[in-house]
Amino acid sequence: MNYRVVVLVSGAGTLLQALLDAERDGRLQASVVAVGSEMPDCAGLERARTAGVPTFCVPMPVLLARDSAARAAWDEQFARAVERYDPDLIVLAGFMKLLGQPFMSGFRGRIINSHPALLPAFPGAHAVRDALAAGAKSTGATIFWVDDGVDSGAIIAQHEVPIVADDDEATLHERIKVAERDMLVHTVNDLAANRGKVIDV
Ligand code: GAR
Repeated sequence: MNYRVVVLVSGAGTLLQALLDAERDGRLQASVVAVGSEMPDCAGLERARTAGVPTFCVPMPVLLARDSAARAAWDEQFARAVERYDPDLIVLAGFMKLLGQPFMSGFRGRIINSHPALLPAFPGAHAVRDALAAGAKSTGATIFWVDDGVDSGAIIAQHEVPIVADDDEATLHERIKVAERDMLVHTVNDLAANRGKVIDV
């Protein structure tokens, strides 16, 4: 039976592209059945359209993000949009919003995220910049189960990435993303092989 994956993106979508390419080439034992976002014009949605994958978007204006009732309504609407695709797994691939209770309650144990650092080091939205600022000699990438905290869920896979002399945020982030793309394809394949196994987060 098909292992159904919904991917959520906010930006460039190069991690999503790694999944789409792997599926196209027969290297993904799963189907990307939809791609969703809160950013209407993001490149990740365009990558999905180019690959012929259905997309959905529930925009989140900045003001809405600060209003808790409106924010809960957004989470419910986003959850309904995801639920339509009946996912076995939800992959956050550069999705840059925290998912609230109304979303988590429906999908807990079925959401993974990819983060550009070796968690628990450097959680949050600026992990690459933070690793450079801390003078770290190496950093890396982590795939983990999403729980109610910020980048705090159970770790599934990690890969160390060296920091070299002339690195800036862009060069280091790109080196980390190479590792993330590879790890993400392997992780989705591993989870698809163990389908039905939902962990308690
Ligand atoms: C990736 O490095 C991913 O780990 C990061 O955004 C990038 C997305 O790249 N996500 C986070 O920082 C989430 N905390 P992409 O848009 O090119 O796929």
